Amino acid sequence: MYAVAGATGHVGSATARHLLAEGADVRVLIRDRERVEEWIQQGAEARVVDLGDRAALRDAITGCDGFFVLLPFDLTVDDLDAYADAITTSVAGAVADSGIPHVVMLSAGGADLPDGTGPISGMHRMEQALRATGTVLTALRSGHFQEKVGDLIEAARAGVYPVFAASADVPVPMVATRDLGATAARALLSPDATSTSIDVRGPAYSELEVVVLPEDAWAPTLIDAGFRPHVAESLAELYRADQRGLLAPRGDRAVRVDTPIEVTIAGLTAA
Ligand SMILES: NC(=O)c1ccc[n+]([C@@H]2O[C@H](COP(=O)([O-])OP(=O)(O)OC[C@H]3O[C@@H](n4cnc5c(N)ncnc54)[C@H](OP(=O)(O)O)[C@@H]3O)[C@@H](O)[C@H]2O)c1
Repeated sequence: MYAVAGATGHVGSATARHLLAEGADVRVLIRDRERVEEWIQQGAEARVVDLGDRAALRDAITGCDGFFVLLPFDLTVDDLDAYADAITTSVAGAVADSGIPHVVMLSAGGADLPDGTGPISGMHRMEQALRATGTVLTALRSGHFQEKVGDLIEAARAGVYPVFAASADVPVPMVATRDLGATAARALLSPDATSTSIDVRGPAYSELEVVVLPEDAWAPTLIDAGFRPHVAESLAELYRADQRGLLAPRGDRAVRVDTPIEVTIAGLTAA
């Protein structure tokens, strides 16, 4: 039995679907009771549990062979670091309490660095905390998601496609979340013997028609767009870290995935 968190999101849902397609027993962990039935119909078990509830999470993963987990991104919080640490304390506590042998964590390029990477520093602390529990941790360090273009569709409709980088012409590797789900499912079904970090690399794309924002405008632009000041500063630090090459792959090994962005955009526009 494999427990999969974030099953209402991009990567968790893809992970659960891939596991089910392989004939594995899957228990999805979701927050919204109304989403339980759709997973039961797909052949999974479902538990309603919040990653911040250590005891409920321990109960949900105890006895499982593996656990897919992520550090959800909540851009509505006042302080991303405090939020990340609260989730990490609960998740690592539940992993330690349950004795689950293998955890696959959705992480990001740059998570080997303790700071200077904005919200990725929270994933660094979560990787460390999970390794410290004694479980075998597979950290999937992804590059940018292709689905991020969906977040910008409204802005693009208004005629602006903002790029938080020094240039819009440098191709950036981007990963389709379906490929991450497939990679996570494979990692769960064939666990490494020891903790490992895996860089997940997709095809590289430059941006389309864009407006390049000057660096000192990144945080103010995000604040104007409605983000809280700490979140805006953290995201601006993330973009600066990317410019400085801090998010480059440095894991124990790398996997190449190959879904082209045209397929992802076709899915987003169909939705
Ligand atoms: N975007 C990128 O380019 C990029 C690159 C590398 C890594 N990442 C990382 O990828 C992760 C996001 O993955 P994704 O796109 O698959 O996520 P997503 O589509 O935003 O979905 C997030 C999932 O987490 C669940 N969730 C949120 N808070 C929770 C909580 N407290 N307890 C239990 N479940 C909770 C959500 O459930 P509900 O439906 O109930 O909200 C949802 O299922 C983040 O850690 C992000 O930093 C992103």
